[in-house]
Amino acid sequence: MSVAEKIIFSGKSNALLAKRIAKVLDCKIGKATVKQFSDGETYVNIEEDIKDKNVYIVQSGSDPVDHHLMELLIMVHAAKHLQPHKLVAVIPFYPYRRMEKIVEPGESLTFQLVADLLHAAGVDKVICIDLHKHRSKRFFRFQRKELRAFPVIVNYFKQKALHNFVVVAPDKGSMPESKRYARELNVPLVKSFKTRKKHDQAIIKRLEGDVKNKNIIIVDDEINTAGTLVGVVEKLKQEGAQDVYFACTHPVLSGPAIERIQHESLKEIIVTDTIELPVNKQIAKIKILSVAELFATAIRDDR
Ligand code: R5P
Repeated sequence: MSVAEKIIFSGKSNALLAKRIAKVLDCKIGKATVKQFSDGETYVNIEEDIKDKNVYIVQSGSDPVDHHLMELLIMVHAAKHLQPHKLVAVIPFYPYRRMEKIVEPGESLTFQLVADLLHAAGVDKVICIDLHKHRSKRFFRFQRKELRAFPVIVNYFKQKALHNFVVVAPDKGSMPESKRYARELNVPLVKSFKTRKKHDQAIIKRLEGDVKNKNIIIVDDEINTAGTLVGVVEKLKQEGAQDVYFACTHPVLSGPAIERIQHESLKEIIVTDTIELPVNKQIAKIKILSVAELFATAIRDDR
């Protein structure tokens, strides 16, 4: 059986990562017009022959989230009419990824809604990375490949060769991944316990483990308002910790985040390029690692 030819398209949210992926794969980004009508509606025209090809559309669900999601859906829908062999949504930052359970009656299971919308638009497969808590498989009515930024981030720390440090898991959800980091870096794991009284506000209740005079690596899946991070940093300082390094996959950095991460104890914030940071958020202490190689490999290996 012959293997279908592959072609990559990029939405507007993360053209930089799409370009990096295409560079690793040594291919060009397919031609498509993606623009707004004056009333704000989105217009898409896929200007390539994609019949019988495997099509990969790269789009992050970053801010403005709903607009970028709709753009992806319309690109998929437009492509579907051209009869590709397979349509793959490459979603480095999956929108509504934290809304994968109902906390109070009356809420929407928005994670599932997004999966259903992708299905309705015509997606055959999603390639994503570090979904929240990695337990959302049940929502997809199509194939899913979930990558992990772990190898990229852990290698960065190995090369940095820090001394006298521990890994801190900022909350319960991050513990399994933090444990992997601690094991791979061969250092102790310290646990932090977090509670939320309202949305976007984190309260750190206590730490479990010794941090006195230690340097710290905190690992999480994302940094949003930086409330969790700064809460943990404050607690760590009270308990005598030294320099703090923070690493996560998705740099959402909304609201007060940039101001909060100026905290003097925070030495470096290591993030990946799943979200394209606007210039005003590219501050000196943020180090961006690329996950392009991971996505390129997943596309290359996709059959
Ligand atoms: C929460 O469950 C996530 O894993 C992150 O800890 C959270 O999204 C970080 O949010 P923020 O930066 O607003 O505290």
